[in-house]
Amino acid sequence: MPQMPLYTVNPDRNEPWNALPELPIHQELYRSLPVYEQLGKAKEALALLAGRSVAIPNPGVLINSITLQEAKDSSAIENIFTTDDELYQAFSDARTELEASGSAKEVLRYRQALWQGYNYLNQQKKFDLNYFIKLYQEIKEAGDGIRPPFARTYIRMGGSGPNAGKPIYTPPRGEGVVESKLDNLIQFLNDPDISPAEPLLKLAIAHYQFEVIHPFRDGNGRVGRIMNIHLLTHSGLLELPILYLSRYIIQNKEDYYETLAGVSQRGDWESWFMFMLKAVESTARLTYQKVNDIIETKESLLDVIRKKTSVRRPEQLTEAIFSQPYVKVNHLVDNGIYAENTARNYLNELSEIGVLEKRQIKGKHYYVNMELEQILSY
Ligand SMILES: Nc1ncnc2c1ncn2[C@@H]1O[C@H](COP(=O)(O)OP(=O)(O)OP(=O)(O)O)[C@@H](O)[C@H]1O
Ligand SMILES: [Mg+2]
Repeated sequence: MPQMPLYTVNPDRNEPWNALPELPIHQELYRSLPVYEQLGKAKEALALLAGRSVAIPNPGVLINSITLQEAKDSSAIENIFTTDDELYQAFSDARTELEASGSAKEVLRYRQALWQGYNYLNQQKKFDLNYFIKLYQEIKEAGDGIRPPFARTYIRMGGSGPNAGKPIYTPPRGEGVVESKLDNLIQFLNDPDISPAEPLLKLAIAHYQFEVIHPFRDGNGRVGRIMNIHLLTHSGLLELPILYLSRYIIQNKEDYYETLAGVSQRGDWESWFMFMLKAVESTARLTYQKVNDIIETKESLLDVIRKKTSVRRPEQLTEAIFSQPYVKVNHLVDNGIYAENTARNYLNELSEIGVLEKRQIKGKHYYVNMELEQILSY
């Protein structure tokens, strides 16, 4: 006797998938040995990272540099390329992204959205429609919200092959359709009694669901990736927002698209769970290494500064040169660490002993923390 399928797939990629099943999904869909084994590995790697990161004296510094990298990676998926140099300069010049231009601006907006959403959730204590709309508006610098009911939105094949431009998937549409599906997702995110209880499985399910609902005219990939990290911090798996999957996703972009589509087309949840759980494991391990490298390098530079210079308040200066790779005199002045002349003298002194590298770009002086730049680039 044929069995009832556990998941009703999308019958036609060219038509809006209004019958997209609501959450939760059937528990059998994540009850498989490979998924549970991979879940175990991901949780272990994440616990290691969580343990390491609570021991950091000034987590703001670390979060600052790591989110800058995530913003760049996630935006690169959408082909918003920016070199590290351009980005760090733009970030260094404008603490708010407003003065940056072009691709650096998009990246800095992503970063801004990461923080806004994080703060919003900390206040609000739950996900809501406004959370998603705010992220979208910040990322896209837009004033609108959910796409209009009859806007013809498709996900199309990229590239220049024979199938380029053909729809891969058509998201649901119609009066109130997207809103009610988002409502269902939001309930799933907020209610701890809705299975699965495992936050990492919840993350994979929610990310898929958000992408297939595809509520905005653009920026859905980025909003969905920001939601991932906020789900981790919100569920208590990670205290600080420092686990970013975008780099792994870009490096495995084909698999990301393929496993996402596999759920809609074949109900292949297992491959999707495996992809996302491997992403978490691998990223948690890499981030752990990065956190260690940043902390160790910071300590050894502090030591050098203490021994080789007469800098006052060396701890604060060290913190400042580790919150971003391109340091400027006015950062130290604006943070109230030193008066302008002192700040300039100290930065020059650090560049003379090789701790920083002085660079002049378009008439502006930067003091580059090369070691931090290098750690952030791997
Ligand atoms: N078959 C699919 N079904 C559902 N969602 C998909 C599918 N293929 C890709 N996606 C999602 O759609 C996103 C692209 O949508 P959109 O252009 O709105 O987002 P973006 O943030 O501008 O782009 P990007 O993710 O490329 O940076 C992809 O990142 C992915 O998350
Ligand atoms: Mg896009």
